[in-house]
Amino acid sequence: MKKEQILHLPPEITGRLLDWYDIHRRTLPWRGTRDPYRVWVSEIMLQQTRVAAVLPYYQRWMEALPDVAALAAVEEGRLMKLWEGLGYYSRARNLQKAAKVIMTDHGGRFPDTFEGLRALPGIGDYTAGAVASIAFGQAVPAVDGNVLRIAARLSASEEDILRPAGRRMFTAAAAELVPPSRPGDFNQALMDLGATVCLPNGKPDCGNCPLAALCAAHAAGRETDFPVKQKKAPRRREELTVYVLLREGKVALRRREDRGLLAGLWEFPHCPGTLPEEEAAGPLAQWGLTPIQWRRRLAARHIFTHVEWHMTGYVAEVRGEGDGSLTWVDRRELEGCAVPSAFAKYLDAAKEALS
Ligand code: ADE
Repeated sequence: MKKEQILHLPPEITGRLLDWYDIHRRTLPWRGTRDPYRVWVSEIMLQQTRVAAVLPYYQRWMEALPDVAALAAVEEGRLMKLWEGLGYYSRARNLQKAAKVIMTDHGGRFPDTFEGLRALPGIGDYTAGAVASIAFGQAVPAVDGNVLRIAARLSASEEDILRPAGRRMFTAAAAELVPPSRPGDFNQALMDLGATVCLPNGKPDCGNCPLAALCAAHAAGRETDFPVKQKKAPRRREELTVYVLLREGKVALRRREDRGLLAGLWEFPHCPGTLPEEEAAGPLAQWGLTPIQWRRRLAARHIFTHVEWHMTGYVAEVRGEGDGSLTWVDRRELEGCAVPSAFAKYLDAAKEALS
């Protein structure tokens, strides 16, 4: 077996980073609190999503679901509606699963250790570290892609940050730097540094970096060579023909299956492949519908992590009973259905047609 690599980063990093954070920290709504519920929800929302995009979601969520009891009790459609547009919907479902566990197994109180948090659904090492350090003052690291990038540049290490061994090495190095006096601030300082200075994609702002003098990549003029990452498999491409079907002031939606991509959300009926106009009526007959008038053709694209959708859409007026797979909703009901942003263009077209 290959020996685990060990990395030590300069201990001066901690003090310099905290001094920088005291001046440059971003003012964010989840920072004025040590309420573990608020910290947890913000950390889950911030996974895969930028701060600016999260802000309105966070505010709305906290108004609707101010505590863990409210989250445990909320009805699923409302939960999905609050998350609509943030993507990765299993994150919202896991939030609720964990809230239920906290209510039933922990008497409504959050576990206050890394291990206790880690055992909850949807909470991995990163989130457990973030909540334990920010809300409970535990001296544990919270290592996400930002922290891995910063550690890789500071050390100019060729270890691959996407491999478990590389991740373990950088995590252990970060853990040594977390100060018991201010663990939450230290972890959030790294997040801010990664978001505003030590930027990804070849654009670090080393002139404004409090750690530049301690950075091996900077010393070598090789900032953009790090982090080293293995190539990802290319995304699968899927073509879809999507229908915005209008009938007597209502539009047809379909509920997605309870498993897989976008599980349980509402979607516009669609079929695989790109159907040209002369073939677009085919699937309608299968759904028990007859077109009366074709209104528009609308193309759209949506990129997920592992797949990209290339969509051709038709807006059409139809008649007929329709089979049981479709649910017809009016404009107001449509507002209450969580439709993923992959269908945003068709949602806009439906709203426009129904208004
Ligand atoms: N990204 C993830 N967690 C964050 C936090 N607590 N503050 C700022 N950016 C973050």
